[in-house]
Amino acid sequence: MKYENLLIEERDNITILTVNREKALNALNVQTFSDLDHFFGEVAPSSKSMGFVVTGAGEKAFVAGADIKEFFSLKGEDAKWLSKRGQDIFFKIEQLKKPVIAAVNGFALGGGCELAMACHMRVASEKARFGLPEVGLGIIPGYGGTQRLVQLIGKSKAMEYTLTGDMMDATTALQLGLANHVVPHEECVSKAIEILNKIASKGPLAVGMVIKCINDHFDENKNGFESEYTGFGEIALTEDFIEGATAFTEKRKANYTGK
Ligand code: CAA
Repeated sequence: MKYENLLIEERDNITILTVNREKALNALNVQTFSDLDHFFGEVAPSSKSMGFVVTGAGEKAFVAGADIKEFFSLKGEDAKWLSKRGQDIFFKIEQLKKPVIAAVNGFALGGGCELAMACHMRVASEKARFGLPEVGLGIIPGYGGTQRLVQLIGKSKAMEYTLTGDMMDATTALQLGLANHVVPHEECVSKAIEILNKIASKGPLAVGMVIKCINDHFDENKNGFESEYTGFGEIALTEDFIEGATAFTEKRKANYTGK
């Protein structure tokens, strides 16, 4: 499938998605959301890829936010719909049972920071700048930013960055736990691929279950401990569970099939 604002590149068993609106610093307009929705809702769950990298086109930005130019036409109910729709699409990324890593190659502001936070990990280029500047526009983050920033860096710093709208450089993002790694600019995508390749050697069903259990910790309707023992029981019924234990005792590499 060809998308209007997303470039898709398959590299072995990994897919690299590039948000491709360089002239608007890859800002998320309605069409880009439709593209992301289709990819993460319809394509990614059944794709042969074991994991995904999300990055931005060009040298300057990962994603500079929601498309501010589309805001002028928004009224209350439309804005509420836009925000809910963005949240729902980002939940599809967060809840995907395959790892998604944001390769943050520049500005990750507003909706761009929220997109990066919905991914399971973030590799930041030295040039990356994170931030939720929405209050400066007289609005608030709308794609999960007020919730996920707290989850990732804690209430105190989340309050500070969201209320001041200050940008955070890559080193600070690493120190606060927003970024998993900081790398030279040109290594941003390759570092994300390196992490995914490491995960590719693990049991895919187990990987998916870990993502679910960790997400469940943050879902007030779920008990993460219950998810864990239930998931443990489910995984123990799979062929991969037998293969993992057998490979260990036979001192060989496990050959997982995802069954
Ligand atoms: N929406 C639409 N267009 C954007 C954009 C955005 N979020 N960010 C940048 N652009 C456009 C600019 O308008 C400009 O287009 P023109 O050449 O047609 O004027 C082009 O991208 C290049 O941008 P700048 O000239 O501004 O580049 P710069 O290097 O001087 O500044 C920047 C870079 C600091 C990232 C600056 O562009 C900026 O502040 N952008 C807006 C960031 C922002 O406020 N994001 C939050 C959006 S609100 C949101 O995301 C809400 C939500 O959670 C639901």
